Amino acid sequence: MKKVFLLLLIFISQNREIFAQVNLIQNIPGRQTMLLDGTWDSQVDIVGVGSLGRFGLIQDRKPIPFIYKGDNPRNTELVEQDMDMSEKIKVPGDWNTQKEKLFLYEGNLWYRKKFTATPKSDKRYFIYFGAVNYEATVYLNGVKLGQHKGGFTPFQFEITKELKDGENKLLVNANNTRGEDNIPTKISDWWNYGGITRSVSLIEVPETYISDYFIQLDKGKLSEIKGWVKLDGQQKSQSVTVEIPELGLKQIVKTDTAGNAEINLSSKKIQHWSPENPKRYDVILSSNNDNIKDKIGFRTIETRGTEILLNGNPIFLKGAAIHEEAPYRTGRCYSEGDARTLLTWAKEMGSNYVRLAHYPHNETMTRMADEMGLLVWSEVPVYWNVKFDKPEVYANAENQLLENISRDKNRASIILWSVANETNESEPRLIFLKKLLEKTKTVDPTRLTTAALLAKESKNEFSLEDPLGEFVDVMGCNEYIGWYTLPAELAPTMKWTSKYNKPMIMSEFGAEAVAGLHGKSDEIWTEEYQNRIFENQVKMLSNISFLRGTSVWALMDFRSPLRLLPIKQDFFNRKGLVSETGIKKMAFYTLKNWYDTKK
Ligand code: GCU
Repeated sequence: MKKVFLLLLIFISQNREIFAQVNLIQNIPGRQTMLLDGTWDSQVDIVGVGSLGRFGLIQDRKPIPFIYKGDNPRNTELVEQDMDMSEKIKVPGDWNTQKEKLFLYEGNLWYRKKFTATPKSDKRYFIYFGAVNYEATVYLNGVKLGQHKGGFTPFQFEITKELKDGENKLLVNANNTRGEDNIPTKISDWWNYGGITRSVSLIEVPETYISDYFIQLDKGKLSEIKGWVKLDGQQKSQSVTVEIPELGLKQIVKTDTAGNAEINLSSKKIQHWSPENPKRYDVILSSNNDNIKDKIGFRTIETRGTEILLNGNPIFLKGAAIHEEAPYRTGRCYSEGDARTLLTWAKEMGSNYVRLAHYPHNETMTRMADEMGLLVWSEVPVYWNVKFDKPEVYANAENQLLENISRDKNRASIILWSVANETNESEPRLIFLKKLLEKTKTVDPTRLTTAALLAKESKNEFSLEDPLGEFVDVMGCNEYIGWYTLPAELAPTMKWTSKYNKPMIMSEFGAEAVAGLHGKSDEIWTEEYQNRIFENQVKMLSNISFLRGTSVWALMDFRSPLRLLPIKQDFFNRKGLVSETGIKKMAFYTLKNWYDTKK
């Protein structure tokens, strides 16, 4: 009896752990929302005077003429801002590519949106941000709602009390100043696009609403759907109906006093989601006065020795790494068009998988991967020289991880949560990342964990010995044989070994080329030079016994402050197999031909 009780305690504590994560509203596209996207007022604030509370910016005081008040030699009503007369800016969208003078800007920029609302007494209201890079401070009608750190994950504030009937003023201070204690730190090989880079929504929900749910196949069970649903509000104990009409499934669950209930459904008729058949089902949840519909795919993902198993069958992940750089227009992606263009290029290359580097991409991208059938490696920007010994840095990393998992936990396409990229081995780093991996497994036991590691290079051998390898399900590994290290012709002679009986994904490999620049294959920056490296790379990749996937670095050229070479780079990393103008380079076809040989 005692053992059962102990097990029950562990189960409840773990579930409480799962339930008690970040409180993001699940499935924004399925909610009653008013999009606040469009033209906003904006004010650059280089030294941050607006935050000092002076000049009336936060209270939105209007400028008034100077009135000498006799006994008061200073006019305490001095106002030196006027958002009505300020420059306008588009939301969503980074500020760097919207205004020439902001291309290199790093600092504060104030955004203001005036909108009209007619709040209902039996509803609750939230402001939901898809992302703001890097730090956001948000005010509604002069009242500070809160702050958020992290440039690539959603956050929300309840505004039921602050929302006015009539005109409302939403004020956001966005600050993209890099910091060595940030996640990512001061140096990253991508452009630090600042601002409200994703959509902003006003969300209306019933007083007690279905705030969150997790509905996926149980680990390794092709017919067993397992999950949970969470209510938030005054009446937390309710009956909630979960239906999947196409499978003839329906379960009525009773939420407990904390608003939580387990979901268990089973069916032998499920068409399992896969790249070949990205089948999604309408899933409908309804409570006393809330009703939400989602499109969810059902698949299992596991490892067995060095194999990766999708729906129980071994799979080789043929892919590309993608930065959130918008094709053609450049700047941060945010639209369906951006997502569809990038994922179509990946598919044209023969991919069944994409690595969304080095940070969570916008929700449109992960829902598009669900729709188009591409498996996803999703990661948080624990990148390079993170301050692993600082608890506040860990807290930031964990919060971004939890926000990422919370938003996308019902997306079948996502099979891998990555906790790091190319982080140097150290004890603090191992402790930090082990904890992040444990947290990942606690919150989402259904998916695999990974990280992009570096192999130990010796004369003609690359070996996976990173101590973190013991704690991930799948080892990622980045290598640039032929570009940064060793002549390309040596690649096929390289021996690859691993200390761990686990699958490896070559999470990065590649070389730069200027699209349209042609010459001999020994002339660097030509497409021929890049292609020669790929011809040798694929010979090596074909002979790594524990390799179960590749994501070329990268699908498309992307902007980076580290890439200074005039004419060839001009702030672009040219490792894309497609240029940002949509030109496919020779190596695109070399990799496609290799992918087409992989089953
Ligand atoms: C590194 C890093 C990437 C970077 C790439 C490169 O491996 O992970 O973010 O862009 O190499 O040098 O191009």
